[in-house]
Amino acid sequence: MLGEGIAVPGWDVAWCDGRWNDGAMAWDGEQYQERFDSLAASGVSVHGEADLVMTLAPGSVLDAGCGTGRLAQELDRRGVEVVGVDVDASMIAAARRRRPDLAWLIADLADLELGRTFDVVAMAGNVPLFTPVGTQAALVAGCARHVVPEGALVCGFQLGRGYEVAAYDDHCRAAGLELAARWSTWDRVEFPGDGSYVVSVHRAPDSPG
Ligand SMILES: C[S@@+](CC[C@H](N)C(=O)[O-])C[C@H]1O[C@@H](n2cnc3c(N)ncnc32)[C@H](O)[C@@H]1O
Repeated sequence: MLGEGIAVPGWDVAWCDGRWNDGAMAWDGEQYQERFDSLAASGVSVHGEADLVMTLAPGSVLDAGCGTGRLAQELDRRGVEVVGVDVDASMIAAARRRRPDLAWLIADLADLELGRTFDVVAMAGNVPLFTPVGTQAALVAGCARHVVPEGALVCGFQLGRGYEVAAYDDHCRAAGLELAARWSTWDRVEFPGDGSYVVSVHRAPDSPG
């Protein structure tokens, strides 16, 4: 369940044939979404990330590396203004098919310049593990520059996959954000738990948030 560290039981980078972090991942958005649909149909909650993000009471959220838009769609349902960005066209096409009325953009977060900011920028589902190796600092910086001064960057990813918390914290610090909270699961079990997963909230050092 949620306590396994990932919001969806069975959600693992192994879903993706172990091809994380090679920068050559090509997704099938419909196939990806079907896994969540069948989990949801079996009664499993697939919205642990949305539950955590809502504790930050955001008015606006950038779903960064949104995939098929699972997080953005749920936050919209809860009254939050959302934008979803993903570099993969198949993922965005699947998101658009489900919610053509929401804002979806095909773009690389590493060089994203939307010209606006959000109360929360959220990376759910191992996004840093699916960006090309060596581009994680740029990925984090791209997310950080879209956070309002008193806002938060939220990110969850599996550990032991070549990108660890020390590097993530360094990349956040370089982008002007410091660690504000850290858990081992999206339902906020104390870190490090079993050491397999991390969920972090980073904010600007003088943020009142
Ligand atoms: C495992 S999926 C997670 C999707 C969604 N956030 C979820 O939780 O269901 C990882 C996503 O990160 C996206 N991604 C990785 N690096 C990215 C980048 N630099 N810019 C935009 N999207 C990126 C991938 O295209 C992929 O859709």
